[in-house]
Amino acid sequence: MSRVIGTEHIEQARQRSRIVFEILPDDIVTDLARETAARLGIRLVDGPLEKPSLARTDGNTAMRRGLYRRGAKWAAPKPVTQRNVRRFAKVALVGAGGVGGNIAHLAAMADMADEITLIDIAPGMAAATALDLNHTSGITGVRARCVGGEDLAMVAGADVVVVTAGRARGPGMTRADLIDVNTRVIHAAAEAIKSNAPNAIVIVVTNPLDEMTVEMLRATGFPRERVLGMAGTLDSSRFRNALAMAAGVTPADVSAITLGSHGDEMAPITSLARIKGRALERFLSADQIADCVKDAITGGGQVVALKKSGSATIAPAHSSIELMDHIRGAKVGPVPASVMLEGEYGVSGVVLGVPAHLGQTGLVGVEELRLTPDETDALHGAAEAIRTRLGL
Ligand code: 2OP
Repeated sequence: MSRVIGTEHIEQARQRSRIVFEILPDDIVTDLARETAARLGIRLVDGPLEKPSLARTDGNTAMRRGLYRRGAKWAAPKPVTQRNVRRFAKVALVGAGGVGGNIAHLAAMADMADEITLIDIAPGMAAATALDLNHTSGITGVRARCVGGEDLAMVAGADVVVVTAGRARGPGMTRADLIDVNTRVIHAAAEAIKSNAPNAIVIVVTNPLDEMTVEMLRATGFPRERVLGMAGTLDSSRFRNALAMAAGVTPADVSAITLGSHGDEMAPITSLARIKGRALERFLSADQIADCVKDAITGGGQVVALKKSGSATIAPAHSSIELMDHIRGAKVGPVPASVMLEGEYGVSGVVLGVPAHLGQTGLVGVEELRLTPDETDALHGAAEAIRTRLGL
């Protein structure tokens, strides 16, 4: 019987630490599965492969093994180790404020790059944070070296550039209120990236996120594979947190994503959300679910209202690291990210949060989920709102 080998089969093989995947003569292997295998370092090998013969043993030995399996000599299986995780030569952070500083800290702790460069127009700010981070290395032992400065040309040679620079919201402001001022910041960063790091993957964090990702694409002229927006990871984390708190379970028991815009048109996908593998309705009332949706959409604003000046920093930094972990192969599977759509979900020419497969070349593919008609409408509504705000 012929099988269709998709990305999920390759990812399952990776989770089992396989480095070889057997392809039988009648199998059909999708292009995305081949790309995923190449990215994860799994060899597709023509089968059938010779199977090792069964170990034969006598009854006494089998009994002894059974009795002593959990005895003193029993050792826990080795934890699954990540294979082919890429170490970046350089990660550059444009903006060394709360989000940039936290990204640098997390990236250093993950020891994911030889060099972490922070850049900020505020005199001394990036250099101070870099020095402060280097001062931790005597305790943490990480090899990553941090450098900081004010010149955007310091993005030179970066594998990944994360742009967090720009004005943050104040209480009562929407993210869209920042379009004009932050477009100028994005264009300046884009010019520097284009000239000095022409092969970099760019992650945009500056708000309004979807619009600024479009501006980054326009100004760099980079392909969509190399310009991503960080929002869906953050919004999904907020949604999962809200669901976990409402249901009284740990966030690890919750799987849920948000799609759409990073703003009022955000679309938390309730139909596919699960708590302990079950539909939300098994744990929560309709009102509770609606409250969790609202909590995800207003989460960023709640932080702004409490801080009075500036917006969230820690969760956005973790969410940026999540994207970098997928790019370097430390994590696999779809992750929500803002990407320029080319027909997926029936949308083209606008950046929207969707589940994306990432790899060392950036976007590998968009995963198209089966949404309800209402959820699809919400995505289309978000696309139209972004188009309108950008005057497209
Ligand atoms: C947030 O939602 C900063 O937009 C970011 O917190």
